[in-house]
Amino acid sequence: MGTKSKVWVVKFGGSLLSDDTARRSFLKEAASVARKEPLVLVHGGGPEINAALDKMGIVSSWVKGRRVTDDAAMGVVEGVLSGTVNKKLVGELNALGVRAVGVSGRDGGLLKAKPVPDLGRVGEPDKADPNLILVLLKAGYLPVLSSVAAGRDGGALNVNADEAASALAVALKARRLVYMTDVAGVLDAAKKTIPVIRVGDVQRWIDDGVITGGMIPKVMSCRNALKKGVAEINIINGRAGLSKRIGTQLLP
Ligand SMILES: Nc1ncnc2c1ncn2[C@@H]1O[C@H](COP(=O)(O)OP(=O)(O)OP(=O)(O)O)[C@@H](O)[C@H]1O
Ligand SMILES: [Mg+2]
Repeated sequence: MGTKSKVWVVKFGGSLLSDDTARRSFLKEAASVARKEPLVLVHGGGPEINAALDKMGIVSSWVKGRRVTDDAAMGVVEGVLSGTVNKKLVGELNALGVRAVGVSGRDGGLLKAKPVPDLGRVGEPDKADPNLILVLLKAGYLPVLSSVAAGRDGGALNVNADEAASALAVALKARRLVYMTDVAGVLDAAKKTIPVIRVGDVQRWIDDGVITGGMIPKVMSCRNALKKGVAEINIINGRAGLSKRIGTQLLP
């Protein structure tokens, strides 16, 4: 794969995982894309992590939308993301007749992160080595990446799945980056979809309090990916599907 890569990176939000209908129809679409084009899936798992931590009586605190993650919580996060959630998606894709392979950012040096101060095992992706993904794609596999990265010591760091998808898309020189989430793209103050956002306007939407919470890492990581050459980026309603792309396009 040269510099004009045809790779798609598609991030499937944890917010959609428990919606069986949405998940099944997305995986069907993903399988059919993967038969024609090189495709990499990245997934989150926020609600699943919450449920697992609750069950164990681990209470999380949050700083600016990030979960403070101590070693015990990190064990749960990694078990859920790289274990339960990742293998569920891989299993369902394989049942659809594609050859899916689950990996995390800790495998093959895929995703390195630097720790965010005071948040424990939380990191921000700062280096990606796409070689393992390229090897898998070339051999006809569909890579499915969970958003756990390696710290400098090789230990697990909890990274936002949107940031993981963007870092990987940049490293792969992806043609297209799509975020599938539980809303129809970026919504304005009246809750209507903003069809096109210029990255230069992103900060203003955040300052105005229109873009909050889980939408912030999405638009910020889009901004970063656009700046680094990923041309086509969409944040879309995951329930409407990958082909319709109902939502917001990000432009430079
Ligand atoms: N301006 C906005 N437009 C749309 N959604 C917004 C906006 N501001 C905040 N949000 C919130 O962002 C959420 C989507 O981000 P969230 O992190 O919850 O989902 P996800 O990234 O798809 O899942 P995960 O983080 O588990 O992978 C929406 O459900 C909505 O509540
Ligand atoms: Mg999110």
